[in-house]
Amino acid sequence: MVVTRRISLLLLLVLVSTFSVIKATSDSLGDAAQIVMGSSGREGWEVSVSTEWDVLGPFPIHAREQHFISPSFPLNLSHTSDPLDLQATYPSSYADGGYVGWTKAQSQEDGALEVSFPDIRWESLRATEGWAALQHHNLLRTTLTVYPPSEIPKKQDLSPPRLVVNLVQGSYFTVRPLAGATVESRGEPEWHMGNIYAMGAAPPNTVELPTPPGLTEPTTYELVVSGDYEIRLFGDPRHGGTEVPKLSITLTVGIEEGSPLLPVIRDTSHDISCDFVDGWAFGDAIGVGIRSLKDWWAVTSVKLSGGLSEDIELALLQDTRIAPSQTRIVPLKLTQTKAVLSDRLDFTVQLQSNDSTTTEEIRVSIPIRQHARWTSAEATPTALKASYFFGTSMPTSFLVSPPAESSAGSFVPPILALHGAGVDIFAPESEFWVNAIPQQRHSWVIFPSGRTAWGLDWHGPSTQEALATVDALHHILSGRPEWQEWDIAPDTKFLLMGHSNGGQGAWYLAARHPEKVIAVVPAAGYIKSQSYVPWVQSRSAHFVDPGLRAILDASLTPDDNDLFLSNLVDTPVLAIHGGDDDNVPVWHTREAVSVLKTWNPRANVTFREDPGQGHWYDNIFANDQVESFVSQALGSHATALSNTSRSFTLTVASPTDVGSLHGWRIHKIRVPGRLARLFVEMGPDSVRVRTINVKAFSMHIGSLPEDVWNVVFIVDGQTIELDQATWDLPDFTLALAQERGLWIPYAPSDIPVAPSTGRVANFLTTSAPIIIVIPNRTSSRLLSAALRIAHALDVYHKLDAEIIEDGEAARRLKEGSLGSGNMVILNSGELSGFATTIMDKRQTPFGVRGGTLELRGRLLNESSMATLFLHPHPVDATSLVLFLYGADLSGLERGLRLVPIRTGVTVPDWIVIGALADERGSGGVDGAGVWGNDWSWNEAMSAF
Ligand SMILES: *[C@@H]1O[C@H](CO)[C@@H](O)[C@H](O)[C@H]1NC(C)=O
Ligand SMILES: *[C@@H]1O[C@H](CO)[C@@H](O)[C@H](O)[C@H]1NC(C)=O
Ligand SMILES: *[C@@H]1O[C@H](CO)[C@@H](O)[C@H](O)[C@H]1NC(C)=O
Ligand SMILES: *[C@@H]1O[C@H](CO)[C@@H](O)[C@H](O)[C@H]1NC(C)=O
Ligand SMILES: *[C@@H]1O[C@H](CO)[C@@H](O)[C@H](O)[C@H]1NC(C)=O
Repeated sequence: MVVTRRISLLLLLVLVSTFSVIKATSDSLGDAAQIVMGSSGREGWEVSVSTEWDVLGPFPIHAREQHFISPSFPLNLSHTSDPLDLQATYPSSYADGGYVGWTKAQSQEDGALEVSFPDIRWESLRATEGWAALQHHNLLRTTLTVYPPSEIPKKQDLSPPRLVVNLVQGSYFTVRPLAGATVESRGEPEWHMGNIYAMGAAPPNTVELPTPPGLTEPTTYELVVSGDYEIRLFGDPRHGGTEVPKLSITLTVGIEEGSPLLPVIRDTSHDISCDFVDGWAFGDAIGVGIRSLKDWWAVTSVKLSGGLSEDIELALLQDTRIAPSQTRIVPLKLTQTKAVLSDRLDFTVQLQSNDSTTTEEIRVSIPIRQHARWTSAEATPTALKASYFFGTSMPTSFLVSPPAESSAGSFVPPILALHGAGVDIFAPESEFWVNAIPQQRHSWVIFPSGRTAWGLDWHGPSTQEALATVDALHHILSGRPEWQEWDIAPDTKFLLMGHSNGGQGAWYLAARHPEKVIAVVPAAGYIKSQSYVPWVQSRSAHFVDPGLRAILDASLTPDDNDLFLSNLVDTPVLAIHGGDDDNVPVWHTREAVSVLKTWNPRANVTFREDPGQGHWYDNIFANDQVESFVSQALGSHATALSNTSRSFTLTVASPTDVGSLHGWRIHKIRVPGRLARLFVEMGPDSVRVRTINVKAFSMHIGSLPEDVWNVVFIVDGQTIELDQATWDLPDFTLALAQERGLWIPYAPSDIPVAPSTGRVANFLTTSAPIIIVIPNRTSSRLLSAALRIAHALDVYHKLDAEIIEDGEAARRLKEGSLGSGNMVILNSGELSGFATTIMDKRQTPFGVRGGTLELRGRLLNESSMATLFLHPHPVDATSLVLFLYGADLSGLERGLRLVPIRTGVTVPDWIVIGALADERGSGGVDGAGVWGNDWSWNEAMSAF
């Protein structure tokens, strides 16, 4: 949940940024500065947005349901009366009398729009339904007008302008021809995802006008916005002293003008750098944000300027191609031969246009913060910024606060601290977060970004990032002789702390990697999204078959922290919560503690409830209890052998997500999509194991307490004979797989790594930039779809994406240069050649028939239908391909909304969805399922 400091910052930014009539010049686009033009004498295109809005709502909705339901619900934009009937009413169970109609709202000149419904008896709704009754959907509608330049030198040179739109805290928007045009000419609306979390460093959405504007007179378009009130975004209205929830969004629209001189521009918000310590870079990754306004560009080289080039080398890490309107971070690897005390890195980046073979040179100057070494008297107490390459080539920064003393050669584990939602750790106002965790005597404190201020709620790529920063710090410290006595161990364990979303993340990460985590201090965390704001007001639930619903919901099982608490019975936990938290209610932590105690009444879990405190308070971590817990956990870890429970349970939903517990590990699940559990009980005469839904597991002999060596080993009642030699090999790992009801020993290397299937969201966990394949650059709707996915990956996760054509993908596959990044293959109508090549191997139950997609004999080409599914990567067994297939443009749009960029969107390994979803949510899903082992059909977890 957002920490309130963040919200006040946002309001500030919005006030200074934009005006209702604006012209964004190409060189200022990267920054907030935009020029106001008068009403006459227009030099270029201009746009204005009407401040009069028509509002239809509120309609009940549960969190993330807007990804299934049409953003224009309850209207069908392909079938609206013309002009719109503003007298019409629509059923809504929130309203007295059961119907709502259109109302008006007025936006401010700066684009801020507030919508609320004081006549709804919210207090009475929430008395029985709680926070769920405050979640609601609104349809918002206004017009925008595009004005041509007053003098047009050569009309034939004037290509239609593109809009740059910033929608902050709204879910989707579309720009359409105004009513009056025929239904056909209004076309299928192209929905763009808004910046719903008000994320920083978010480039604007670039929007093609649906029809060319007039060259001599203004042209007016309709602008439709989906405005969804979520507690997670706006909080409890009572926090602000009212019962009435208020949707607050900001929408600004400008013209993107690619000046012929500057078709590519800098976006400094995407730059990545590191601090220097005693003249040496604290990391090796530099990133330069570059956006193409026009054309496809390739970065060809980079050249340091001035005297620096003798002591520093800056090398382009990989080819970087930028699609029109795309923003990418050019990865540069920094190496040094001498200390450098400069306060800037100045260099130029050369680019070549793919379309015209012109070249451009961009000058870059990246400021550098120099520090004296943390031991010296001059050292500043602020945290250091480090950098490394995430996922092979994505430059990424994180913060660390150094220990007060060196541990003189012995390794002391670090603390990993996970921030709350909305906290951009690098922003000046986030200093409170770094300061909240007191400096440690011997331990580094690592503050990862989690990719962005929200990331994936510390799951998926955000977990990957948190773990990667620990390794990155080791590499940085071990890389310089002067720093080595401060080094942390390779592959070290760590202590976890976190607040709010990060408190939830700390529970999450500790329960998935219990052997990496020494102890955990989760503060103000929630258990899981479904219990944060309950789903009782789900619209889908009134239509969907509960059997299908269970399969869809199973895609969230890996996120359900309560189900995995069995893995924490031997991890020391100090759980903290303010007794009057109105943001994440205190019962969440009380309940988590209770569940943990149910698994083992002797679990070392302490609950600290701070009476009268809210969501954040300055001494939440800075108090004697936390300090002594942390120092004892860090201090005792090296000496004391952990006193493991004699009986414990390992819980796993996806074997690739969960590590081992006391040396026990589940490798394969019998029915993927359902939980697997391993109950272990070590008695004086035997080690007894009971399994639920486990297909293969292993156990590291050396991790067993010595007094149970040589005892009888019984799995599901079957005695496993182990010869004496086995017990003499402490490094031996015993692996067992079940075949026809019997457990058979295996060589651990013979148990194949399970692919990370289970849900489409797994494609976000990638080992390299994501590759998006479209049939060709001339199919503008698929290019737009690819750009919209790349944009969302950037805004929400700072995950890099490259867009390539079919032919290029085929060439790379042939030449063996495809790499290991997860892929997204986009198709609409006829399947492309590359898609067909991949599918023809029949690695999943999906096939190709007559140029279209087929599943178990049924063609998936009905109008408005969309299909998403995970498929093996053509070259890398641990990577994934996400196929997104729209039978037509309407299907393509529906499929795009299901790409789970945010947590909580229930999409398992495959899903087929049709037009009915527009008004019935997941009640319009035609089929969905989880793959079985090795991508097989999994009847138990399929509905089709
Ligand atoms: C919306 O209207 C179009 C055009 O009339 C129709 O084809 C489509 O089925 C409608 N969608 C729904 C969900 O009714
Ligand atoms: C542009 O890129 C495509 C493939 O992405 C390539 O086939 C073509 O040769 C390039 N054109 C130029 C002028 O570089
Ligand atoms: C629980 O863990 C903390 C931190 O490691 C430790 O100080 C404390 O002694 C443990 N309590 C018990 C009862 O083992
Ligand atoms: C380990 O646990 C057992 C049983 O709970 C207890 O008797 C013993 O003292 C513990 N040992 C240590 C070193 O804490
Ligand atoms: C580009 O792809 C689209 C969609 O697959 C297809 O209809 C069109 O014919 C292709 N154009 C070219 C030039 O290959």
